[in-house]
Amino acid sequence: MKLVVLAWFVLAVTAVKHELFKTCAQSGFCTRQRHYANHVSTSHYAIDPKSISISTDKVEAQLIKKWPGHSIAFPISIHGIVGNQLRVIIDEDRSSAQGETGLVNPRRYNETGKWAFNGGQVETQAFKSAKVQKNQLVIEYGEHSRAEIDLAQFVINFFYDGELELSVNENNYLNIEHWREEDEADEDGNLMAEELDFDLFSDSFKDSAADSVPVGPESVALDFQFKKHHHLYGIPEHSDQFRLPSTKGGEPFRLYNVDIFEYETSSRLPMYGSIPFVIAPGSSSVGVFWVNAADTWVDIDYNDEGSHTHFMSENGVVDFIVTIEPKVADVNRQYGKVVGNTMLPPLFSLGYHQCRWNYNDEADVLDINSKFDEHGIPYDTIWLDVEYADRKHYFTWQEDKFPNPGRMARKLDRIGRHLVVIIDPHLATGYFASEELIDDGSEMKNSKGETFKGHCWPGESVWVDTLNPKGRAFWAFQYQRFLSNYTTKNVHFWNDMNEPSVFDGPETTAPKDNLHFGNWEHRSIHNIYGLTLHEATYSTINDGDERPFILTRSYYAGSQRTAAMWFGDNLPTWEHLRTSVSMLLTHNVVNYPFVGVDIGGFFGDPSPELLTRWFQTSIFYPFMRQHAHLDTRRREPWVAGGVYTDAMRNAIRLRYSMLPIWYTAFHQSALTGVPVVKPMFYEVNDDAVMEIEDQFFVGDSGIMAKPVMDAGANKVKMYIPQGQHKYIDYTDGDFGSSVKVYQPGTTATIGAPITSIPMVVRQGSAFFRKRRYRRSTRLMAQDPYTLTIVVDDNGNAHGRLYIDDGHSFSYKQGEFLELEVTATASAITVDVVSQDSSDANYSAQLAAMVEIDQIQVVSASGFADVSSVSADSGADTHYVIDGSVMTITAHHPISQSMTLTISRDVVDEL
Ligand SMILES: *[C@@H]1O[C@H](CO)[C@@H](O)[C@H](O)[C@H]1NC(C)=O
Ligand SMILES: *[C@@H]1O[C@H](CO)[C@@H](O)[C@H](O)[C@H]1NC(C)=O
Ligand SMILES: *[C@@H]1O[C@H](CO)[C@@H](O)[C@H](O)[C@H]1NC(C)=O
Repeated sequence: MKLVVLAWFVLAVTAVKHELFKTCAQSGFCTRQRHYANHVSTSHYAIDPKSISISTDKVEAQLIKKWPGHSIAFPISIHGIVGNQLRVIIDEDRSSAQGETGLVNPRRYNETGKWAFNGGQVETQAFKSAKVQKNQLVIEYGEHSRAEIDLAQFVINFFYDGELELSVNENNYLNIEHWREEDEADEDGNLMAEELDFDLFSDSFKDSAADSVPVGPESVALDFQFKKHHHLYGIPEHSDQFRLPSTKGGEPFRLYNVDIFEYETSSRLPMYGSIPFVIAPGSSSVGVFWVNAADTWVDIDYNDEGSHTHFMSENGVVDFIVTIEPKVADVNRQYGKVVGNTMLPPLFSLGYHQCRWNYNDEADVLDINSKFDEHGIPYDTIWLDVEYADRKHYFTWQEDKFPNPGRMARKLDRIGRHLVVIIDPHLATGYFASEELIDDGSEMKNSKGETFKGHCWPGESVWVDTLNPKGRAFWAFQYQRFLSNYTTKNVHFWNDMNEPSVFDGPETTAPKDNLHFGNWEHRSIHNIYGLTLHEATYSTINDGDERPFILTRSYYAGSQRTAAMWFGDNLPTWEHLRTSVSMLLTHNVVNYPFVGVDIGGFFGDPSPELLTRWFQTSIFYPFMRQHAHLDTRRREPWVAGGVYTDAMRNAIRLRYSMLPIWYTAFHQSALTGVPVVKPMFYEVNDDAVMEIEDQFFVGDSGIMAKPVMDAGANKVKMYIPQGQHKYIDYTDGDFGSSVKVYQPGTTATIGAPITSIPMVVRQGSAFFRKRRYRRSTRLMAQDPYTLTIVVDDNGNAHGRLYIDDGHSFSYKQGEFLELEVTATASAITVDVVSQDSSDANYSAQLAAMVEIDQIQVVSASGFADVSSVSADSGADTHYVIDGSVMTITAHHPISQSMTLTISRDVVDEL
């Protein structure tokens, strides 16, 4: 049986196996909670007024679940937390379950936050006031917020500046399946009239039938009505459109980290990662974070009032955080105070990554490496998939093929290039690493507390339990030993299959009744396992000196702090290309910008046209990597040849020239949580953009792009948003010979032959680029910057640049530089707004090496009236005016402020 399963996974098949994954109707708790929601009409939950105890930042009480003949108390607590947010936790006192749940910890799992929250916990924030008035508990918090909790109905209304924004449990969907023994459960009256008894103590789905369900039914569910918001986004990972579609009458979205092979588009099936955060932008913006790591389903619906969500989780506590802010970016900023923001990636990792399963040996790696140079294509990182390791035994090499990995790494390092090797959490039984793991006792256990064994790439395997501190120490030791042979610091890691993927497990993953550290069931922690693994890798690799780079496939809220991520095993179709951008935007709005998808599709062979268009789109993936299945043909950028290779080369070079923009955007995102690739509604106030998902802004640069994602297309229709600003054509990062201006509120038709990437710049923007071709980012370090300024009709523009060494943590000691550009009709100033205060060396070094050598100013109305341009430094300033573009040649050290004065002739107005 196991052999059959294995063969089936290795052979290329053509579509996702739906039958592997439960539908809601096949999931006990999803069926039960949906049924409950369809039948409940009055609340069964009320807060006991006598139980309420109020302190400065916390209210505690008993929430009573009541139906004829029954009354069960749940401890509820409401917390003021950092960033003007409110957190609500509903737990269950299960002391009566003590000794009744076998090996399993009888408590409800309440440690999701320990992993998801930055630093393992959230800071509290005192309420402004909290008091009981009539039948309500009223909490004033933050500057503008109020929560009114109806005690008798248990409905929480959230107000901002007096306006109702969100109602929790308005539809009475709150339902907590309390602890009961199997022989009580089906007794008359132990279920409410609204409850079903489907799969309470067992699981009838295929391989899941082995689930011992030791604690019985324990799911939790709750509804959130957004009062003014008609557009919801978030809750990745799904291969679906950006604006969440209604699930009414269909399947809910499922959050359950699984290895989903050859996934489809327009799908609500679970994927590799989960972030249970939904965001509702509008004239005010609301975020809801459902802090739960168990199997979760989410129904979405739109109604006249706004929109509605129904979260259902298999177990754990009810725990959610509500954020309400005027602006959507502020929701990201506040949510980021809980889960953290993206790391500031090492600069090389924003360059291009070349991967396939597999580069076969050292000669192959070095050949690919030099072909990039022969073809004049920059790249930074070459990757090795599972075949490099001896029999897929991680922490080893196939010595005949890679006789000296240290030498290979050194050869790459000489021109600033990097090597990434894959290391997965499954360790084949019968070799040193798995034996050391079992000896250590920190492997994942089965429901009987024995070593869990399952199948994955190398055959029978065991899994490290990185929830266990000993498991993390084991993991660290393996990496340190593996790395001890390298003298260079350019070797990095890729943690794949960490959902975890178990080929012969239920729904391709670990049995839910497996056990982890603390005797928690896998059921309780499933969606955070992947995060615990890649974080263990991160803390191992992090020497406090070089910024680690790690790629993970599985993730949870908080993964953005330590790992980049990609969307797994996609297909080479145009639909998958388009969906990659939708998914990119979804991840960006939940504070996880460092993501991408396999360029060209993981399986199969894309046509040269599709591959080219995919490369052009991928220059807007924060994580830009080509990867492909073992059975595919080679598809490095030079393989297609001719115009295709030229187009791919140009696309990659354009990406490299824009790295200062990407790095500045990442720095901003690391500080504030704002997206790096921004959906249009972050930048413009125009209802027409809410459903646009194939057009976006790059950071704060003012650059808006719409890559070609349709077969045979030779133009795109780009929506130019309403507002004060016009947009200037910037296709391929060039203003062309005659500047094209697009008016707000129109649709621009932009020609896009196979060589072209349609882009525009909003008037009033300024940004920096580095335009020289180099083989890698490291070799670009001393290259000069070009400053581009696109002024508005009054001659004004604004922009920023962030610079540091791009690889170490010295920026945390102040070794960085931030420039602000301000243009008016009469002057251009470049201000050093912050620099290393503690140590003048960094900016002094930069100043000696790096300059701004060109300033390009673009004005729709031209420069006919300019009579001179002079620098305050007195330095010679040459400028050339060509219609709407003025090019100023400069040799200005990057770390010094400067002002250019623009003198204009006074034109008589007749
Ligand atoms: C989880 O619940 C236990 C029992 O109520 C409590 O002692 C503990 O502080 C809680 N842990 C967290 C992280 O909230
Ligand atoms: C280090 O390199 C030597 C020589 O290539 C090899 O025999 C040994 O296994 C390597 N050690 C590790 C931990 O990879
Ligand atoms: C700059 O670096 C030199 C040598 O590394 C050091 O001696 C000096 O103190 C540094 N300057 C400042 C201002 O910190």
